[in-house]
Amino acid sequence: MIHTSIAIFATFALCTSASSAAQAPGVSIELGERSSLTRPDGTFDYESADLQSVKIHNKYQQNFRNLVANGGNLPDGWELRELRTVPETMQKRASGSEPLIDEDHDTEWEGNIAIGTPGQTFLVDFDTGSGDLWVPSSACRDVNCLGKQKYNAALSSTSSRKNGTFTIRYADNSTVSGPIYTDSVTVAGLTAKDQYFSPVETLSKSFANGPVNGIVGLAYPGISRLRKDPFFTTLIKQGTVSAGVFAIKLATVGSTLFLGGTDTTKYTGDIEYHAVNSSASVWLTDGAKTVVGALNPNTGFQAIIDSGTKLMYGPPNAVQTFYAAIPGSAVYNAQRGYYSYPCHALPAIGFSWGGKTWEVTSGNFNLGATEVGGSQCVGTLVGHDFGFGPNVWLLGDSFMKNVYTAFSFDKNSVGFATLA
Ligand SMILES: *[C@@H]1O[C@H](CO)[C@@H](O)[C@H](O)[C@H]1NC(C)=O
Ligand SMILES: *[C@@H]1O[C@H](CO)[C@@H](O)[C@H](O)[C@H]1NC(C)=O
Ligand SMILES: *[C@@H]1O[C@H](CO)[C@@H](O)[C@H](O)[C@H]1NC(C)=O
Repeated sequence: MIHTSIAIFATFALCTSASSAAQAPGVSIELGERSSLTRPDGTFDYESADLQSVKIHNKYQQNFRNLVANGGNLPDGWELRELRTVPETMQKRASGSEPLIDEDHDTEWEGNIAIGTPGQTFLVDFDTGSGDLWVPSSACRDVNCLGKQKYNAALSSTSSRKNGTFTIRYADNSTVSGPIYTDSVTVAGLTAKDQYFSPVETLSKSFANGPVNGIVGLAYPGISRLRKDPFFTTLIKQGTVSAGVFAIKLATVGSTLFLGGTDTTKYTGDIEYHAVNSSASVWLTDGAKTVVGALNPNTGFQAIIDSGTKLMYGPPNAVQTFYAAIPGSAVYNAQRGYYSYPCHALPAIGFSWGGKTWEVTSGNFNLGATEVGGSQCVGTLVGHDFGFGPNVWLLGDSFMKNVYTAFSFDKNSVGFATLA
């Protein structure tokens, strides 16, 4: 087994040991972590959390539009909504807390990719909840591109300009947009040739702070805004990976993305696979239920597994039902769907798809105290109506940190295993 690891993040020093092997049985890339929704004084960072919710709202509304534009139908009950914006004042307060790193509340996962020949390197987010790849362009004159890594097509012998433009709108109503290119894209020594992507010439303010330069979408082609195969689908079609499976471990230390299979050193026991409902071109599972102690407050719902979402969200009524099963829980903000619970008396919380219960640890469930030194904490499960209707939940990092997660295009399934 070839393990090509790209160490990144803490120092930004880049030690690539690129593998030249095609058809590798699987390679891994280390992911760095950053950003917190808990303030340094231990309290819940409401503004940052709310900015996240708006960002996720817009991401999925964009996904819905892409799905329709690609000739798909929105699943029953899913609705197109306006994209949302957040007030400038909240953006300021939220971004003020952005650079803080709290190792106990790591919430975003980044790794390196190289684009072009020779490779130009970018630190990006790997997002199982979207389908496109973009990075800043050397033609970006936007103030938000200052200090970013930028793609220069002229310096790549394999770059090719395509027709059209790419645009996505973010929560601050700014856009990420640019022309469309193909070029070679390499992650951990695996190269997707002629991969469609956009070197963006305007960059949303939401990316101005922090080290992330772009996004690699890892969902199905059906939600690609570029209407092209996402990076991992290209690897499969070009025969670069021997298995159409990638897997993610998110943790405070040793987070990895494994391409071309699963890394058996990272989990124990079998992987429990569940079929993906292909109706939405994301990693949508059917038949989930919640576990609170000995109770199952919610049953028979659908859940999207999304590494590009920090928290966990459910339909507002369902989330109310969930917290009602936790003794001492209270509404924290009814309109925004936040609840609190006694920090030190949380029952065992988890999710089940009919097999094991995949527990969310109390540490991963806790977004911080409601007030300095307070004994009530805000839970990472938030009630939010994204336009998914009454039966779809969104499980992001707060869930994924508790399990080893495999995403299989071969089986059209998502699998969970116990972390080693
Ligand atoms: C897939 O999802 C759609 C939309 O939510 C739903 O109508 C359908 O019943 C689901 N399929 C299965 C097999 O559960
Ligand atoms: C771009 O558009 C032009 C005019 O519509 C067309 O002739 C050309 O084939 C297109 N190129 C590509 C690469 O699609
Ligand atoms: C967002 O920007 C677009 C295009 O610049 C503009 O038409 C729209 O009114 C803006 N929306 C809000 C809420 O500011």
